[in-house]
Amino acid sequence: MKESFLDRHRLPLKLKPIFVGQLSIVDALGKSAYAYDDGSFELVLSPNEGITPEFIRTYARERSSEIYVHEEDYQELNQKLGEKLVKLTRSLSIGDPVKNATRHTHLLSLQMANLYENPFDDQLLSSQFQSGQNLSNLLLSNKGVHRHLYQSVSKQGHHYTVAQPLLSSILLLSFIQSTGLFSHKETQGLFMTSYFKDIGMSFIPREKFELAHLSEFDKRIFSDHSENSMKILNGRVPLAGHQLELIKNHHYLNYKIQALASNEKYEPGDNLITGLESALLSALDILVAMTSERPYRKATSVFQSLELLKKVLADEHPQEFKSLVVFLKHFFSK
Ligand SMILES: [Fe+2]
Repeated sequence: MKESFLDRHRLPLKLKPIFVGQLSIVDALGKSAYAYDDGSFELVLSPNEGITPEFIRTYARERSSEIYVHEEDYQELNQKLGEKLVKLTRSLSIGDPVKNATRHTHLLSLQMANLYENPFDDQLLSSQFQSGQNLSNLLLSNKGVHRHLYQSVSKQGHHYTVAQPLLSSILLLSFIQSTGLFSHKETQGLFMTSYFKDIGMSFIPREKFELAHLSEFDKRIFSDHSENSMKILNGRVPLAGHQLELIKNHHYLNYKIQALASNEKYEPGDNLITGLESALLSALDILVAMTSERPYRKATSVFQSLELLKKVLADEHPQEFKSLVVFLKHFFSK
């Protein structure tokens, strides 16, 4: 059913995109919801029409991962999601921790997708930060959960920009905890730093994430995301100055790899932190990216990724690289 000419032209002002999976937390919407198709909005859900899992599955399969809802419904969906996360957090320690953590990460990823759409929403950011911290507490006190959770998050089907920081942070926390080199507080801080490091991606137009080849201009927008993440977070979340610096430089090993590929000497910029924390954060981000499939390329094996990482990590941190190899062998064993 198409809207009238006037309604159709007014509509974009009132609509906001939301991950269709988020509709699973409500029974119905107060207003209509729309698919954006071929330049116009098409009504797909009427006010108070029951939302079934079948509707969500079919829509996601045949239309898009996003559905457009009215501002009022958008606010309510986000509020409900935040409430669910808080409620779930309270019961995280009761029952099966893998099941709890899986449900928690799914909701957390839905909220992260919303945050990418609205990075300057303070309430959304602080809810996401609090829920991320709760997850890190659960992970720190349940070592047995890490592997299973990593696998279930990989299968949740969230967009890779949302899944990538979560997966790399789970792996980082798990590895750091296994080394015993960092305190509980430092490990939690690194998890949070890693989890929020890609929030600057919210400035990149969505369609660019599917492209295999980027123009020079696009490459620049992508490479700016680390600095933008830092700017978005600065003063709004309880991350310390050195953690924001880690975020700003979280791709430094990528630059080292690029320099190596073109036979240039890598020169870190002024004030660049290239300590162990920075190296591990960057290394695990690369490893997770390489071992995950993208719309424009296949995944590589853990072994191949380690071959590459060896060249840029083992020179400065040989002992930690060895520990990482042993850790990953166990983590990804069947
Ligand atoms: Fe990044």
